[in-house]
Amino acid sequence: MKLPKFKSKVFLAPMAGITDPAFRLLCQEYGAALTTTELTSIHAVTAREKDLKEFIQFSKKESPKAIQLFGSDTKLLKKAAQLVEPFFDIIDYNMGCPSPTITKNMAGAALLQKPELTENILKTLVNSVKKPITLKMRAGVNEKNKHLFIKIAKIAEKTGVSMLTLHPRTIKQGYSGTSDWSLIKELKQSINLPIVGNGDITTPEKAKEMLEQTDCDYIMIGRAAQGNPFIFKQINNYLKTGKYKTYPNKDKLKAFSKYLKYTKGFNIKFSAIKTHAMNFTKGSVGGKTLREKITKTKNIKELKTILRLP
Ligand SMILES: Cc1cc2nc3c(=O)[nH]c(=O)nc-3n(C[C@H](O)[C@H](O)[C@H](O)COP(=O)(O)O)c2cc1C
Repeated sequence: MKLPKFKSKVFLAPMAGITDPAFRLLCQEYGAALTTTELTSIHAVTAREKDLKEFIQFSKKESPKAIQLFGSDTKLLKKAAQLVEPFFDIIDYNMGCPSPTITKNMAGAALLQKPELTENILKTLVNSVKKPITLKMRAGVNEKNKHLFIKIAKIAEKTGVSMLTLHPRTIKQGYSGTSDWSLIKELKQSINLPIVGNGDITTPEKAKEMLEQTDCDYIMIGRAAQGNPFIFKQINNYLKTGKYKTYPNKDKLKAFSKYLKYTKGFNIKFSAIKTHAMNFTKGSVGGKTLREKITKTKNIKELKTILRLP
């Protein structure tokens, strides 16, 4: 299935508790060419059929956008994919989450060890909807089998998946150590699909390095975008001109203020908004004291007072 046209090479990574619809919109405004919801349970999607739009929150202005699903019950998966299909441009499937709460139910990265089930899952998705299906994976379970992703990628290619993202760490690694970019290069050389490289891109220079070292088609930024949506603009400018602007802390606060505006109309937990406030004030003068105060706030009004926002 044909992918939408992307206006740049840089995507925002799905992040649970972070990539709410307001943050996704903000990142698109700063140049993210694709945004994705946090991982979303197929059980929850089907259970919330009646108030689905309130559950899978999105803005019409966010375009193109993907929803990431997880769960391995193929009947429910079919239903969930069909329910969300009208609202998103891409359906992404999660085979990257290393969290035991997900892997113990044979979902997320645990599926890397189950090629047959994976094939069933991907076939179900591709055959149930008309939107492109993409897949996000980790490399393997541990160092010894860190090439599990190759077999899965071949199944994905055969099944009709449209694009693959690799975060080249193992489940065992969690977020420790570094991601092994050579595995992204191997993936690109083995599979004839657009490949998205992900893992440890923290600067525009690193973004360029990943593109050059691995020959991947797109790159995906996770942690470095937290409190820092500017990174998309910086990378886009650096790739085009070799230069980029740095942003002072007052710009970060302005961006957070915009984020707050965008949260209106969505049901975003105040704890998630506070996490963003902490991220956006990292590195600012007196940031530590400020963040201690942020932790104690109970609502947006108090938060705005502390940050001196209008
Ligand atoms: C707080 C947090 C939440 C995450 N949630 C998801 C998720 O819902 N789905 C997913 O595929 N990956 C998730 N990830 C992994 C990221 O998408 C990404 O693969 C990882 O952070 C590596 O990229 P980075 O080095 O640019 O952060 C999450 C990562 C973080 C830090």
